[in-house]
Amino acid sequence: MKNKEIVTLQRSLLHDTEKLLNQQIEMEGKSSAYYLSMASWCDMMGYDNAAGYLYTHAEEERQHMLKLFHYINEAGGHAIQPEISGVRQHFNSLREVFELILEHEIQVTKSINSIVDHSFGVKDFATFSFMQWYVTEQREEETLARRALELFDIIGEEGVGLWTIDQELGKLHEKTAGN
Ligand code: FEO
Repeated sequence: MKNKEIVTLQRSLLHDTEKLLNQQIEMEGKSSAYYLSMASWCDMMGYDNAAGYLYTHAEEERQHMLKLFHYINEAGGHAIQPEISGVRQHFNSLREVFELILEHEIQVTKSINSIVDHSFGVKDFATFSFMQWYVTEQREEETLARRALELFDIIGEEGVGLWTIDQELGKLHEKTAGN
């Protein structure tokens, strides 16, 4: 049997699905870089707990990316290491950081949903099933981002407000660690 035929038989991923999954790899890789940059900014500004929360989050996003890498390659595709550039390094405020996180996670959810929709449409039930983990994860991540952002309205940023918000972010981080 020729090599090309063997490859064709081993592949269980359709080209379009592989392309979408590689786009998702890029999104998760960018998320990791984005949150690492935010963590560093928070660290520099003295928001220790926010920094801890974001360092962990950056690591989690890298794991999300790797999970996709393995899935694509095990299905006979080719996972592509994304080019990542243009990561923003400076932010105007702690609140802005958390607003950007929520905005970003909403975009990630849309992207996940489009893969789920596509895989169902082409009857790729393996990918459909694999993506359910991401659907659940996104629900948790969006909820967490909203809860973090609510702290700014509930506590307020005046006086010791930002310090208190940073403490509460630490508690939120502890509560969700290991999830
Ligand atoms: Fe892996 Fe927060 O998206």
